[in-house]
Amino acid sequence: MTPVIARTREELAAARAQVRGALAFVPTMGALHEGHRSLIRRARELGDAVAVSIFVNPLQFGPNEDLDRYPRTFDDDVAMCAAEGVDLVWAPTPEVMYPVTPEVRLSAGRMGTVVEGAARPGHFDGMLTVVMKLFHQVRPDAAVFGAKDAQQLALIRRMVADLDVPVRIEAAPTVREPDGLALSSRNRYLSDAERVTARYLSRALRAGVERAADGPAAVRSAAQAVLDEAAEADPPLHLDYLALVDPATFEEVGEAHAGEAVLAVAGKVGTTHLIDNMPLQFE
Ligand code: PAJ
Repeated sequence: MTPVIARTREELAAARAQVRGALAFVPTMGALHEGHRSLIRRARELGDAVAVSIFVNPLQFGPNEDLDRYPRTFDDDVAMCAAEGVDLVWAPTPEVMYPVTPEVRLSAGRMGTVVEGAARPGHFDGMLTVVMKLFHQVRPDAAVFGAKDAQQLALIRRMVADLDVPVRIEAAPTVREPDGLALSSRNRYLSDAERVTARYLSRALRAGVERAADGPAAVRSAAQAVLDEAAEADPPLHLDYLALVDPATFEEVGEAHAGEAVLAVAGKVGTTHLIDNMPLQFE
């Protein structure tokens, strides 16, 4: 079944009016891969109908980032949505989404300035602003986000709690290649040699997570040792950060931390910015 494709607010309103029962929503920037597919499948379990948005949001890209070269594969994306039984695809143009440059925006607060937010100033403000707009446009009962973008997920949970947004937020685990690399729309930028270097990210995380029983310092140093190797690889990994944080606040955890944590890493291989994380538990 082909989904209804809405490109204007009027088309979206008409399609939304046809939805009966609970609507589950998966916001995306397109270039859909198996990670997105797993979110769509989770959404089908949560709702009577499923909506997917495809919109590359200029507001969340920095001036030196990859907005212009971000992959756009609309026909393939719609084919995946059709194969997964998606009911509605919301695909606004930038002009439809932002008829004027928005003056009023959301702020991700302190949480938007740490870890990935320190590497990408303004990114999370722009992300939250578009997700709130999408929620108002699509009016879902539930929305599914990937654990791959752990800080994004934490911020959306905070937005929904802090601003009383009536949408249930669901997390789906990170989908990986057989060699450990987390699936990402940006992986298609990588050359074969860069792809080999990119593996160090998940290797470092695994090395860290394996030391959880020995505490935060052991986790950090085991992961860092792999990243030191990656810095010497050809081509090298240019590390942006390695962070061991509380999954709800993204504050670094101390040596006495008990309970859940997230080990997060980001770096550049060639000109491609890659991020990854794994959850872990301290006793
Ligand atoms: P995008 O990068 O397209 O990701 C859309 C959703 O897919 C996000 O919730 C992301 O966490 C999830 N995802 C990506 N790779 C994944 C993987 N390997 N395994 C599981 N889930 C994965 O994230 C965005 O778009 C944007 O910031 C958006 C929320 C759409 C706002 O513009």
